[in-house]
Amino acid sequence: MNEPLVLGIETSCDETGIGIVRGTRLLANEVASSMNEHVRFGGVIPEIAARAHVEAFTPTLRKALDTAGVELRDVDAIAVTAGPGLAGALMVGISAAKGLALAAGKPLYGVNHLVAHVAVALVEDDAAGSPLAPNTAALLVSGGHTEILRIGSLTHDVELIGSTIDDAAGEAYDKTARLLGLGYPGGPAIDAAARHGDPHAFRFPRGLTMPKFEGTAQSPGKHRHNWSFSGLKTAVARAAEQFEAQGLAVPVADLAASFQEAVVDVLTAKAVRACREHGLTSLLLGGGVAANSRLRELLAQRCADAGIELTVPPIPLCTDNGAMVAALGAQLVSAGAQASSLEIAADSSLPVEQILR
Ligand code: KG4
Ligand code: ZN
Repeated sequence: MNEPLVLGIETSCDETGIGIVRGTRLLANEVASSMNEHVRFGGVIPEIAARAHVEAFTPTLRKALDTAGVELRDVDAIAVTAGPGLAGALMVGISAAKGLALAAGKPLYGVNHLVAHVAVALVEDDAAGSPLAPNTAALLVSGGHTEILRIGSLTHDVELIGSTIDDAAGEAYDKTARLLGLGYPGGPAIDAAARHGDPHAFRFPRGLTMPKFEGTAQSPGKHRHNWSFSGLKTAVARAAEQFEAQGLAVPVADLAASFQEAVVDVLTAKAVRACREHGLTSLLLGGGVAANSRLRELLAQRCADAGIELTVPPIPLCTDNGAMVAALGAQLVSAGAQASSLEIAADSSLPVEQILR
């Protein structure tokens, strides 16, 4: 089927997202967030997130249908995030999607949240988006995942090239923001604080960049294409403590800027090298950390230098949303993929290679 009209449902974490696409054209993207209810805990509380999805679901769905100017009976398929994510939160979206699919007699596609973050890069606002280029990679940077992928096809060929061995990039932002007293979520807070700081004030470690981990192109080390961010957070904490111990004000902006530079430097350097060594000439950026201003800037620069064609989604499509789920659903429908069973369950640790449940 060409240009299918697909409704996408996302409830894997704290955003209730409903999006509607026609092929690669974006028609609606409504997001309700329970973020404010988690702020005082400094992180997402799964039970609160799940209850908030129940409350937000119907009004968000109504808004999305109105914005797109369609009704449920018009859609060709319903796509929903089946994992990875918080089990209780995923279950709300999956149950709602099954109910809608059954009531309206529509096929259901239970899709992978991580691949959906990548698929959204093909979506355009006012025109049909571009098809996937041959030899494409994706850098996926979210709150729970940091991965470099080879994308042979969004519907049946995703291969993991490298990933973080400890904290995800977004997790590092959230933890570091907390220790700098910048609040939750940490990514936007550090991004903003860093604008007033010196990125070279502190030289923080770039994890897994020593020759013993990286090896060479001819003889790659075990962690050549992997990242590690847990040491970085500790280094920021030690630096802040030294100021406190001397009774001096902690230079939050400089620490934030230097932390951000370390994250973005190692993310971009390893992503570009993985592309080069795997013969990948196009790169899609996806996930919540893709909203980061410095990552967008430095990745654009390094891809241009390396002759890699970079595609970066608009900021509202980087953090969790339903349009990305609809976008992947539309790719699956177009490719003639078999719909999911109405019996599918949430899989909180769905691996990235498994695109469809
Ligand atoms: O993809 P996402 O919305 O949810 C997950 O699937 O995890 O990503 C959320 C993560 C959080 O860790 C948040 O701090 C981070 O994305 N984030 C950012 C920025 N905006 C959101 N990190 C850095 N800079 C930003 N501007
Ligand atoms: Zn996400």
